[in-house]
Amino acid sequence: MKATHTNADMSHQNSISYQFGEFLNSLEENGILSTLRKIGQRLSYKVKGVDFSTQNIYDLTRVGEHKEHGTALVSTSKDFLTKLIHDLENSIGKPIKKSVFIDYGSGKGAAIIHAKSLGFERTVGVEFAKELHETAQKNIEKLKLDNVNSFYADATTYLVPLDVSVIYLFNPFDEVVMKKLIANILEQKENFENDVYLIYGNASLDILKNSFELINKISYPSGSTADFYKI
Ligand SMILES: C[S@@+](CC[C@H](N)C(=O)[O-])C[C@H]1O[C@@H](n2cnc3c(N)ncnc32)[C@H](O)[C@@H]1O
Repeated sequence: MKATHTNADMSHQNSISYQFGEFLNSLEENGILSTLRKIGQRLSYKVKGVDFSTQNIYDLTRVGEHKEHGTALVSTSKDFLTKLIHDLENSIGKPIKKSVFIDYGSGKGAAIIHAKSLGFERTVGVEFAKELHETAQKNIEKLKLDNVNSFYADATTYLVPLDVSVIYLFNPFDEVVMKKLIANILEQKENFENDVYLIYGNASLDILKNSFELINKISYPSGSTADFYKI
């Protein structure tokens, strides 16, 4: 388990040297074709003015009672999310129903935007930092996407839609918030319309296994990890 560094400074991830290191990691982990595709996609986002850059949150306007319990914005890449959905399906041995994908702590909307392109009918993001939520809305507009929505709210106040199939968490917050989110999910569980899976990227907490079934845990060569749960 990684530590949860709430309000950490992650701005070094925007530096050229960090990005070059990422490029080398990607070459090693995914090969040249996938890395070139990734670079092409980044350039296309740049041209369209889509912004998924890393951002600290300590100076942002945050709603709710958990201002000190969140992690900095680091966006999920499309390659990583593609891998996560693929590994979830491999872990359960069947395709998942791609109804609603919800991301708690959705930042600039990267995961909800990528999930839509991976075939989910509707994707929902919940983000407590106003400036990040507004960037997410602009990104969605620039890419002209339907059925992709970012909501400005604390994760504990936005209930999971009942037609959900995947709940996504990319190490967004600490135990205080996680416990409340787990309690909300357990309360709603009976009314879910589909089998529901939770993907916890770069997990810093293992308390989810007390409430949900841990299906698989994967460590990727890049250093990222994912825990897969069935609700
Ligand atoms: C590591 S980033 C993940 C961003 C996004 N999920 C992605 O994968 O691209 C964590 C995000 O969680 C948000 N966050 C932290 N605590 C939150 C809370 N209590 N409610 C809603 N969002 C929160 C932060 O502002 C940050 O944008």
